[in-house]
Amino acid sequence: MTLSRRKTIALLGGGFITAAVGASAYEITRMPRTASAPWGQAGGYDDPRMRALSWAILAPNPHNMQPWMVDLRTEGEAVLYVDTDRLLPHTDPFSRQITIGLGCFLEVLRMAALADGYEARVDLFPNGSDDAALDQRPVARVRFAATDAAPDPLFAHVPARRSLKEPFDMTRGVEADKLAALEAAVLPGTEIGTSNEEGFVEEFRALTREALRIELVTPRTFKESVDVMRIGARATDRTPDGIDLNGPMIEFARLAGQMTPEKLMDPTTMSFQQGMEAVLANTDSAMAYVWITTATNTREDQIRTGANWVRVNLAATEQGLGLQPLSQPLQEYPEMADLYARTHERLAPTGGTVQMLCRLGYGPDVPASPRWPIDAKVLNA
Ligand SMILES: Cc1cc2nc3c(=O)[nH]c(=O)nc-3n(C[C@H](O)[C@H](O)[C@H](O)COP(=O)(O)O)c2cc1C
Repeated sequence: MTLSRRKTIALLGGGFITAAVGASAYEITRMPRTASAPWGQAGGYDDPRMRALSWAILAPNPHNMQPWMVDLRTEGEAVLYVDTDRLLPHTDPFSRQITIGLGCFLEVLRMAALADGYEARVDLFPNGSDDAALDQRPVARVRFAATDAAPDPLFAHVPARRSLKEPFDMTRGVEADKLAALEAAVLPGTEIGTSNEEGFVEEFRALTREALRIELVTPRTFKESVDVMRIGARATDRTPDGIDLNGPMIEFARLAGQMTPEKLMDPTTMSFQQGMEAVLANTDSAMAYVWITTATNTREDQIRTGANWVRVNLAATEQGLGLQPLSQPLQEYPEMADLYARTHERLAPTGGTVQMLCRLGYGPDVPASPRWPIDAKVLNA
């Protein structure tokens, strides 16, 4: 059969369109495949230290930078270091929050070891530390010793723990007994506050909204986020850390060329405006808050805050409650100074440092966030 030229072109054209639509539908609907694999691999190692560490890497941490590195060369020990290429100098100039994340890591490590029959004895900053900056010195030396002490019941909630970065259900308040359960989860002597009081919630919705706005319109602080955004499933699988943006709308916008770092940074673009709307929908749907303060602000205080933080997060998981830290008003850079002062006046009126501030509410189930496998984080294995 001979085809006229016109028909040939029409068929070819149709074929290309079908191919393009087919490829796009696949691209648009795909989700990350390997990025969350470490959640399913936790505990599956021969060495008890690797078993505990494979749980510890699931800990919450700022911008999901996963700044941990572990040396296992000494038998029965794990030495934790911070990867100084994974700090957030603009929004976290003294690495206070990064240190809190390392505290979360050590607490999950401790719980995992205990559930496995080991006491993890943690010696913090054995060679000293600097309040202004983290450096190459060890963050902790952990020695593993057999124990028959009872496991920590919060450990059971590690697989389901999330930071829930979605709007909460505004028809559902957070009950006082749930707030009491969070307050009961922290270590003895911790200063923790909670509130579901209407006036307080209104005030802090406005305050956290303004703090987020400042971060977004301050180019160097927003760039720190944009630099670690993983846009779409492929990027998330390739680099399983940072701020992962996934779902059909993201893939669609990416394919349409709307999700480049330049477009995301430019306040006149739709990508910037929709990003801003999405984060503000989160602050505006807070139904209650929880915060942790410390009288002093040493590295040890920050590590302990991390232990308390992950305990609160795990208790919230147990209660079926969603939780998202909103750290912007606690950050130590000049543009945030007024809100930093106001937040401290309200939450630490007698002095001290507000280490964590977080909104609470009920929200959707979300997938586990990406993680590098533990093998990528072990030195000299
Ligand atoms: C010290 C600290 C500060 C954080 N601040 C924020 C924040 O301001 N906004 C936010 O959405 N998540 C914040 N998070 C949550 C992290 O982004 C989250 O733990 C990380 O992306 C990994 O996700 P996951 O907790 O669901 O595993 C913070 C976590 C820690 C430990």
